[in-house]
Amino acid sequence: MQIINTENYAEMSKEAARLVAATLRLEPEAVLGLATGSTPQGLYAELVRMYREEGLDFSEATTFNLDEYVGIGPEHEQSYRYYMDTNLFNHINIDKDNTFVPLGLTEDIEGECEIYDELMDMVGGTDIQILGIGENGHIGFNEPGSVFVASTHVTDLTESTIEANSRLFAKKEDVPRRAITMGMRGIMSANMIIILASGEKKAQAVRDMVLGPVTPECPASLLQLHPQVLLIADDEALSGIEF
Ligand code: PGA
Repeated sequence: MQIINTENYAEMSKEAARLVAATLRLEPEAVLGLATGSTPQGLYAELVRMYREEGLDFSEATTFNLDEYVGIGPEHEQSYRYYMDTNLFNHINIDKDNTFVPLGLTEDIEGECEIYDELMDMVGGTDIQILGIGENGHIGFNEPGSVFVASTHVTDLTESTIEANSRLFAKKEDVPRRAITMGMRGIMSANMIIILASGEKKAQAVRDMVLGPVTPECPASLLQLHPQVLLIADDEALSGIEF
């Protein structure tokens, strides 16, 4: 795993945007794996700026998001489809038909998991996968547990994730208890993975990911086995690691 240590969140976001933009310029039909949460918001803002000011072209790109809450629809302001539309897709020239976010509100959630993996297989996986990291070491909603789950699946969110994400809901009880998430196979099949981390709260998870054993108790630790991973993190997130 290569590490880029940035001074702060803004630098982290710019560095990540520079790499996504380079991927798109080399390969306009690139398949981008995207993440939600607070961490990539600066990256998306920078990509929107690059679209407006530098003509960065998304018209032929395809995107796959990592996850979605189960039980809320795309119009729900806390859904990840809504997040993607409002943070990125509505502001760039991407064809929304080529943007995939798992459906969290569907009669057939197991079928949705299968379809999602089939769609990803059809495009040959992602060229570049953006990830954040949970305070508990999760990536996507692959929560700590006793096994790595390969395929897209429905998962129960851990207390720590519900607590961390409750800041975005009116009250903790409103946070959905389950989510649909791309599994480790989908994530690991990316040609290149960029994992972003900012802030003191992520220091322990980052340390476990980089220096700890490869274990499903810290799902991000599996990234140690991927040949092309770049961790872009600020000083605080890297404070648990000595260089
Ligand atoms: P955050 O979430 O970016 O909102 O901190 C990251 C994650 O839980 O993967």
